[in-house]
Amino acid sequence: ADDGYDLWLRYSLVKDATRLAEYRAAIPRIVIDSRTPTLAAARDELGRGLRGLLGAELPFTPRGPRGPYLLAGTPSSSREIDALELKRELLAAGSEGYVIRSMDVGGRQATVIAANTDVGVLYGVFHLLRHMQTEGSLEGLRIEEKPRVERRILNHWDNLDRSVERGYAGRSLWDWNALPGTLDPRYTDYARANASIGINGTVLTNVNANAQVLTPAYLQKVRALAGVFRPYGIRVYLTARFSAPIEIGGLRTADPLDPAVRAWWKAKTDEIYRIIPDFGGFLVKANSEGQPGPQDYRRTHADGANMLAEAVAPHDGIVMWRAFVYSPDEPRDRTMQAYDEFHPLDGQFLPNVLVQVKNGPLDFQPREPFHPLFGAMPRTPLMLELQVTQEYLGQHSDLVYLAPMWQEVLDADTYARGAGSTVAKVIDGSLEGHRVTGVAGVANTGTDRNWTGHPFHQANWYAFGRMAWNPAARSDAIADEWIRMTFTSDEAFVRPVKRMMMESREVAVNYMTPLGLHHIMARSHHYGPGPWVTGGRADWTALYYHRADTLGIGFDRTAAGSNAVGQYVGPVRDRFNDRATVGDSLLLWFHRVGWNDRVESGRTLWNEMVHRYSAGVDSVRAMRRAWDGLAGKIDAERHGEVARRLATQERAARWWRDASLLYFQQFARQPIPPQYERPARP
Ligand code: GCU
Repeated sequence: ADDGYDLWLRYSLVKDATRLAEYRAAIPRIVIDSRTPTLAAARDELGRGLRGLLGAELPFTPRGPRGPYLLAGTPSSSREIDALELKRELLAAGSEGYVIRSMDVGGRQATVIAANTDVGVLYGVFHLLRHMQTEGSLEGLRIEEKPRVERRILNHWDNLDRSVERGYAGRSLWDWNALPGTLDPRYTDYARANASIGINGTVLTNVNANAQVLTPAYLQKVRALAGVFRPYGIRVYLTARFSAPIEIGGLRTADPLDPAVRAWWKAKTDEIYRIIPDFGGFLVKANSEGQPGPQDYRRTHADGANMLAEAVAPHDGIVMWRAFVYSPDEPRDRTMQAYDEFHPLDGQFLPNVLVQVKNGPLDFQPREPFHPLFGAMPRTPLMLELQVTQEYLGQHSDLVYLAPMWQEVLDADTYARGAGSTVAKVIDGSLEGHRVTGVAGVANTGTDRNWTGHPFHQANWYAFGRMAWNPAARSDAIADEWIRMTFTSDEAFVRPVKRMMMESREVAVNYMTPLGLHHIMARSHHYGPGPWVTGGRADWTALYYHRADTLGIGFDRTAAGSNAVGQYVGPVRDRFNDRATVGDSLLLWFHRVGWNDRVESGRTLWNEMVHRYSAGVDSVRAMRRAWDGLAGKIDAERHGEVARRLATQERAARWWRDASLLYFQQFARQPIPPQYERPARP
């Protein structure tokens, strides 16, 4: 079907005739022992994938008498694998890695997928299928892969009533009413999709948590889901509402130092592990946006996290404690609060606690500097939290490929241990020698037939998994594979679409928040512009962040202002602190600038703002033209779906441009230069 349900696992017949012939010759049969559920999943995927790619049903055989074949397994599942000269490679592959080789096995030409564990084989199968979907040669294959990050986890902000906080692709996939008795086949396809990109964990419930999921009836439902996901190497995690001991435990307090509270969590955790023996652990949002937490009892984040960490430790569980905290009584600069609260706690967390930090210090804006906590808590494993769902990046409508933004963060140099101390190295544990590591992505999936609503938002789910596996992966290479797997390898399609994707994030920054602007979106739903938003909590207004008046615009976070720059290490601090070196892309994040001041382009600030907003709209128009020109290269269904959403995106881009320019023009008091389109008044 062309409805997008198959995601990047479409396995269509290989177009290139030479490649097809090569594949058919190299893999006429498959040898895989499939006695475990995971190896059975690997076998099924091989069958499904090769049937599609080669257009033929391949026989699964025990070792056949002659001719080439595909051999997959572990040393313990296969005597043939055990006998191969791959001991050194397998040693390096660890518990989730794999080796793929074209090699001679007892005089026969084999394509080998070998791993130490069943899930390693499954990952290897997906790799080989990807290799063939992107039409790579099987000759001389020498692939050795393993994840650089241990926990690669989707965070579903899904509620028990099936609404999804910041979800734009339908309702929650988890049909709590029908569970545990009825298992939607979609759960299996969800697991396949995740395993294909190396995701090995899923937090089923919203960070704004409901304690009910921890009650016995719900734990049975969670168990049923865990059972479907397990063969695919995916563990289930839950959000823990800090006040659960009161709400479902009948206690009077949730004080983390109260022995009764500690005993309650311990018993609850033991109960969970009796039901779900490989349960992953808890994700906690505490003392943030009204959520309960240890500070309600004058305890610290470490007190709260350690209580839960102690409860899960005997079961090898982890606690992911979020650093996304800010409160209405923080008058200076909201972006500084997380650092101020967490930096002093470094060294106080138990070893199975990860502090989960959003990519930037505010809240998933189109562009933020990297979060100053990265590199600032050397004794604590920090987990990177990315938002795959596009709360601030066009929600259902905008084609924005997020991987370049994530790459920007991962490549950012914290200087924590001198030059080269990138966020990627903080996250993969290599900078400080942490063994427990993780990356989280706020999921963008829902019940829409194509999972993500916008067909191109599938790419963000895909890229999240690929970058969690390898934070050094390049966003353009990921886009390239995704396009080929999802649509076609026709260069006349791949080239322009890749260009569109790679530019799309900067395009969105231009028509939403150019020059380091941030938090100027509409109130509460966050779709569309709202630079005029005032009233209520100061840190939820737009004015708090842009501070525009007739003299200029921007938030002074330099040493002379809030001194948020002081939370970064020397060279970074200095670069951000100085108008001359900060760069235009974060200019108004860190500096207050006069309307007539010159920026890097040589234009005045006002003219540059007009230029960028206009360029943003023009780029979306160019994207539409490019996409229209590709009609006929792919199925009409997905082409039409994207075309319709691009039309909405163009309207949104014009709305952002016009509203923002007309609003800021009141302060700048200057005309729109004649070469630009006039903003339309509503
Ligand atoms: C954002 C988002 C909320 C979410 C919060 C969080 O503020 O708008 O819906 O709960 O982030 O990450 O906790």
